[in-house]
Amino acid sequence: MGAATQSADLPVDLSVDLCGVRLDGPLMLGSGGLGESADTLAEFQRTSCAAVVTRTLRTVVLPGRERFPSPHLSAGPRRNWLLNCEWGNLRPLRYWIDTGLPEAAARGPVIASISGRSLEDCERTCRALAGSPIGLVEINFSCSHAGQAFGRVTDDADHVARVVTAAKRASRAPVIAKLGWSPVLAAVAAMAVRAGADAIAVTNSIGPGLDIDVDTAHPKLGIAGGFGGMSGPAIFPIALECVRQVVDAVTVPVIGVGGISSGDDAIKMIMVGATCVQVYTAATFRGPAVFDAITNGLRHHLRRRGHQTVAALRGLATPHLREPTNTHIRVPVVDTANCHPCGACQRVCPADAIDMTSRAEIRPDACTGCGLCVDVCPPYFNALSLPQGTSNRNG
Ligand SMILES: Cc1cc2nc3c(=O)[nH]c(=O)nc-3n(C[C@H](O)[C@H](O)[C@H](O)COP(=O)(O)O)c2cc1C
Repeated sequence: MGAATQSADLPVDLSVDLCGVRLDGPLMLGSGGLGESADTLAEFQRTSCAAVVTRTLRTVVLPGRERFPSPHLSAGPRRNWLLNCEWGNLRPLRYWIDTGLPEAAARGPVIASISGRSLEDCERTCRALAGSPIGLVEINFSCSHAGQAFGRVTDDADHVARVVTAAKRASRAPVIAKLGWSPVLAAVAAMAVRAGADAIAVTNSIGPGLDIDVDTAHPKLGIAGGFGGMSGPAIFPIALECVRQVVDAVTVPVIGVGGISSGDDAIKMIMVGATCVQVYTAATFRGPAVFDAITNGLRHHLRRRGHQTVAALRGLATPHLREPTNTHIRVPVVDTANCHPCGACQRVCPADAIDMTSRAEIRPDACTGCGLCVDVCPPYFNALSLPQGTSNRNG
């Protein structure tokens, strides 16, 4: 990448076009309980969140699913993940058609999330929403804990294609297929697009996962079996690779979802080819303000790198993902002025290659070039970096 250009005044254009819908920026609130009603969505529409997705709407509430298990949310240590065993919107579709969607759409673009489990239900919901002021429809094929309980539809390319075809016939709005992690993700995404999907969102929660309370030996979640879908920062690298795979497989816009909690996370998603990103768990933990924090990070990066549009970032990582494996050892370089020998790098070095004097000193002959020390150096020091090029070690 070119040299950094820093200007606090440089105007940057964050707007994106998603299937003909103009958004003021690339950030959206993902589907979930924060989109349970027009009132809860309003909190996010006051921020730089450019579009909101409803919690998945239901025409049919199955017996026993009128309420959620209790507890239905469980947070990991340091809030690096969240498990949930929630299911669709508790409010009737009628509420959304009469009140929720008109109210929310008057404030900004709204995406209606609907379930992709049953073809008939999906078609019926699209028809019912045909007169509603929605920007797009997002078909949820990918809830990981519902998949555990009722069978995974996100792996079933034929099912996904049939449902997308039916939704396209019934819907006036462009259709997003929301897929989840799957060993056949790229093939399913390609089939969804062939069936008419206007965009792909990936991923939903991943798993399911399980957590146990050590004092009671009970599962943390109240659902039989204790399992729940996992979301939050811990799933980010999986979500990023899912987005990369889908971008490679389709030509329609891709919406990156999963573990995004900072400007850098959003930038990484866009660099592998995402057009927009959705944020959910970070909004649960940090509230609506997280959208302005992510937007500021994104804007700051664009200015620092001299880009004027968010589109300039799209796909920047793609050529590098095609480069061959590098087996030449790159020994990290210490910026002596910034190193305040805290010892973080020395503690994690698996090769015991770092001496701590008045600063970190890396012994090139012992270093295996693993790169871990660079990532654990506190960002406010930022004293370690990997050299450009292939190798800076003799032999
Ligand atoms: C409590 C909770 C409820 C969710 N409900 C839905 C839902 O109704 N429909 C849907 O498509 N995704 C749902 N999701 C998945 C999120 O939209 C998102 O895809 C996933 O959590 C990964 O993104 P994140 O790590 O930013 O949360 C839910 C996630 C959580 C944590």
